[in-house]
Amino acid sequence: MESGDEVGTLGNAFNEMADELQRQTGQLQRSAATEATLRARMEAILQSMGDALIAADVAGTVVTFNRAAEEILRRRAQTVVRRPLADVMRGQAITGRTLAEAAMIGGATEGTLSRADGSPLAVAMTAAPLVDSSGEPVGRVVVLRDVSREHEAERMKSEFLANVSHELRTPITPIKGYAELMRRKKFPRAKEESFLAGILQSTERLERVVEILVDFAAMEAGRLKPRVEPVPVKDLVARLTDKWRERDGEHRFVRKIGPDVPPIMGDPKLLGRSPDELVDNAVKFSPDGGQIEISAEPYANGSRSARISRVRITVRDHGIGIEPEQMPDLFQDFRQGDGSETRSFGGLGLGLAYVKRIASVHGGDVIVESEPGKGSSFSLVLPAATAGRITDVTKRARKAK
Ligand SMILES: Nc1ncnc2c1ncn2[C@@H]1O[C@H](COP(=O)(O)OP(=O)(O)OP(=O)(O)O)[C@@H](O)[C@H]1O
Ligand SMILES: [Mg+2]
Repeated sequence: MESGDEVGTLGNAFNEMADELQRQTGQLQRSAATEATLRARMEAILQSMGDALIAADVAGTVVTFNRAAEEILRRRAQTVVRRPLADVMRGQAITGRTLAEAAMIGGATEGTLSRADGSPLAVAMTAAPLVDSSGEPVGRVVVLRDVSREHEAERMKSEFLANVSHELRTPITPIKGYAELMRRKKFPRAKEESFLAGILQSTERLERVVEILVDFAAMEAGRLKPRVEPVPVKDLVARLTDKWRERDGEHRFVRKIGPDVPPIMGDPKLLGRSPDELVDNAVKFSPDGGQIEISAEPYANGSRSARISRVRITVRDHGIGIEPEQMPDLFQDFRQGDGSETRSFGGLGLGLAYVKRIASVHGGDVIVESEPGKGSSFSLVLPAATAGRITDVTKRARKAK
């Protein structure tokens, strides 16, 4: 073989090697780029998860702590990475173990997390071992979900059910008791009448609970459509005051109606119950008696104006009043100022939520003013039956015929 050929062969071999090397480098670069993309995607997924994700290595030190974990545990990722999981995730599982111990056991559990600022948070936790591609354990992954809302909804549901049962059961006792007494024995007429009044009052109480629940369910399902017509405010307020005077001898009911109050546009049946709920509260929350004023006046964006468009019906009491921090929750469903077991006032916690909804299906509103210890005033603001509106209703009624 000639030496020239040997050099040529060597050259070719080198060239092939160089080509191969370049191909491999290219491949490596592409894999690295793919891996970086994958890593970035994984990171983005981890960070945008709604649940908290904490990963720990085999030694139990935190290696990953996503954004939701920062929010839920109220700790910054940079302050917890490389710290023991047991230090970072404090709290108790419902099994009685610590959350960190439950995480080592794995599986799903619930518990109470103790956050960095000491505040407790109800969480659902899932923990699993983390293994590499060859199946070797490399650590643990823990996912935590804030379940405080579910717990609150659950608590409110049971409180509501307890309240409904109580409100339904309480009036049954006098109804049954008086009826049994009257069946067993003859009583003087006056006595009988007081028993009958007791039965009637308790029946009305039952009717109220049932009607509120039925209307509420209908409103929730969007099935409650008010049948509006002009309703004379004077009659409405008079009926309300008379009813309460008859029913409750402890409070003094005073009515005040301006001479120029126009009728309101509303469903007489639904509107009957709403101011009634306001008086019911006024009575209930002024336990020491006192005066309750029921008034009606024209109302146009807070000030009287030539063109009267709305009417304000106000129920004012001089009772316990409402704390400012209670105000935002006042109209929420099932919300009561005192929701504790030992609360002194009964009720469903639906009265005001009901009034607010009835007002809004009529295009109206409820305004509240209150001072703790001094009393409260609740106003139902409803559209007035102005000439134009009355014509509209007449037209609609004619069309329906
Ligand atoms: N006139 C008032 N004075 C003081 N607090 C009031 C008054 N009206 C309402 N509240 C507060 O607002 C809360 C909610 O009232 P709401 O009428 O919705 O429920 P409730 O009266 O407790 O029960 P119910 O559903 O039987 O009416 C009450 O529990 C009470 O704390
Ligand atoms: Mg009430």
